[in-house]
Amino acid sequence: MEIRNVGVAGCGLMGGGIAQVCAQAGYRVMVLEMEQRFLDKGLGAIAKNLARAVAKGKLPQAEMDAVLGRITGTTVVVDLRDSDLVIEAIIENPQAKTDLFGALDGVCPAHTVFASNTSSIPIIEIAAATQRPDRFVGLHFFNPVPVMQLVEVIRTIQSSDASVANATAFAQSLGKKTIQAKDRAGFVVNFLLVPYLYEAIRMLETGMASREDIDTGMVLGCNYPMGPLTLADYVGLDTLCAIGDIFFEAFREARYAAPLLLRQMVAAGLYGRKSGKGFYDYG
Ligand code: CAA
Repeated sequence: MEIRNVGVAGCGLMGGGIAQVCAQAGYRVMVLEMEQRFLDKGLGAIAKNLARAVAKGKLPQAEMDAVLGRITGTTVVVDLRDSDLVIEAIIENPQAKTDLFGALDGVCPAHTVFASNTSSIPIIEIAAATQRPDRFVGLHFFNPVPVMQLVEVIRTIQSSDASVANATAFAQSLGKKTIQAKDRAGFVVNFLLVPYLYEAIRMLETGMASREDIDTGMVLGCNYPMGPLTLADYVGLDTLCAIGDIFFEAFREARYAAPLLLRQMVAAGLYGRKSGKGFYDYG
């Protein structure tokens, strides 16, 4: 099945990035947000990203205009009715996701494949809210989407071979490398990443090392592009805590129990880069 029109639900950090790379690969994209102000902010961020590439001489102005011309915003679910593929990237809340896909199921044609970009929720739990669990997969992108090369493709016990092949070919057409993961909370990357980030926070909490030394240790000792505390701020401490809580619920293992410091920072509204303060100050 040929994919021409892509629906993207959510125009935050992930949804905006996904919409951008789809439009850059030549797809027509309809982006759904709950409110006009979120849409304006998300589309504005895409334009700013592309303008930065133009300013660096990495993207012709005409190409930027063409990419933006392929993206349309909406706040109405029914506008996604022409999508051949819908990728959902809204908040990590199972109810919000099942409500959205329930609504999409009623407006999209039978051939439309649904994909969730969830970081942590088993895909089958979301797919079960639709009448098309065979045409439902996970497509998990990484932040920042235009830069990170990987997409995890998640096949559920009900995903058809055709929808998995279709979604994989689609992700590769965006210039991404794909890996296949089983439909278990965390898939491959976050299953490894979250305990690592939690361990770094526990190290800070127990005074084993300073935040700078923990980060410098991993940057210079392992050649990671960011230290774990910088990366936690980058992911968002609220998001990290929400992902860990879903893992803890699923596996009941101590390594997924949020460190007290993380929980307190989230309670205080210190979400990292997006709120201006986390382990570091971005003011
Ligand atoms: N959007 C688009 N492009 C961006 C960008 C963004 N948000 N941030 C950086 N870039 C681009 C820059 O424009 C630059 O492009 P050029 O090389 O073409 O000029 C390039 O990326 C490098 O950027 P910088 O020079 O500004 O900075 P850097 O070299 O320090 O790289 C980084 C920044 C790419 C974010 C790098 O630090 C990095 O790879 N960090 C690790 C990110 C990571 O681990 N992400 C995964 C998070 S976990 C996740 O996403 C899963 C989940 O479910 C929670």
